[in-house]
Amino acid sequence: MKDELEAFAKDALEQIQLASSAQSLEEARVHYLGRKGKITEILRGLSQVPEAERPAMGQAANQVKQSLSEAIDARKAELEAVSDANEGEPADFSLPSRRRSEGHIHVINQVTEEILSIFFELGFQTATGPDIETEYYNFESLNIPADHPARDSHDTFFVKPGVVLRTHTSPVQMRVMEKMQPPVAVVVPGRVYRVDNDASHSPMFYQIEGLLVDERVSFAELKGTLMLFVHRFFGKTAKIRFRPHFFPFTEPSAEMDVSCTVCQGKGCRVCKHSGWLEVLGCGMVHPNVFRHAGYDSEKYTGFAFGLGVDRIAMLRHAIPSITHLYENDLRFLEQF
Ligand code: PHE
Repeated sequence: MKDELEAFAKDALEQIQLASSAQSLEEARVHYLGRKGKITEILRGLSQVPEAERPAMGQAANQVKQSLSEAIDARKAELEAVSDANEGEPADFSLPSRRRSEGHIHVINQVTEEILSIFFELGFQTATGPDIETEYYNFESLNIPADHPARDSHDTFFVKPGVVLRTHTSPVQMRVMEKMQPPVAVVVPGRVYRVDNDASHSPMFYQIEGLLVDERVSFAELKGTLMLFVHRFFGKTAKIRFRPHFFPFTEPSAEMDVSCTVCQGKGCRVCKHSGWLEVLGCGMVHPNVFRHAGYDSEKYTGFAFGLGVDRIAMLRHAIPSITHLYENDLRFLEQF
């Protein structure tokens, strides 16, 4: 009888676990613990058991009864928890799904990636440098000595004496040349900082620097490279022009304009009726810069350029104010 009781208990516990609704659980309870149930039957049958075994058997049967009723309570709680969670309307699987809102790449990064990919095709590699830069790399090494008036045009944030937030990506030219021998062909994306803040200036903005150094690099290569870039980025019909300019680290230097992408050069508000948009500064690397890098300026020549990513993004998408790029207003950002 003891074996029979154990087998019964095992089977009953299993069935209770398998009950998948309140109704089937109630049926199991009646079947096992009810007045006509199995336990009752066993307890009634105790009188047939030899007297010596009777107390132990009775105790065992009561224990089984107890544990079955606990198991039923526990299973009941489980089933209730599940049904609470499923309460409400039954699911309608034919409904269209809810649209998930997706993040995407910021317009500045989109434009940066597009520009870089054009230069990658030409064999340029990326290089990067620190935002917090020494005055040596940001100025001196680039042929801008301490008392030079050219420093005035870079309204500099000082971190502490001798250390600045870089005002351009040009210091990375020097960092690259210190580590590599020519031929060097790098593009350098990065943040730069100047004390400036209005509709077309942000105290932090983005530049991409370009540097190519090898034997016999001429201004023709600079022009050809930039022309290819402009045709790829702004389209085949875009025209370019160079205006003489001054940068201490290039000689000769120029600023490059692109025919206005909005009016095709006819003159409009965006180009201030000039038909041209200024997009970058460039020139042939100054021999003094090579000297600081430890390059032989008799053997090597090179060109460099620095373009403003924010400006190019604004031109491409007709964005009226640079502040839009940095306010993180989703209504603006989602348009790109
Ligand atoms: N660093 C210059 C600027 O920020 C741009 C530049 C880069 C000009 C490389 C010439 C060569 O204004």
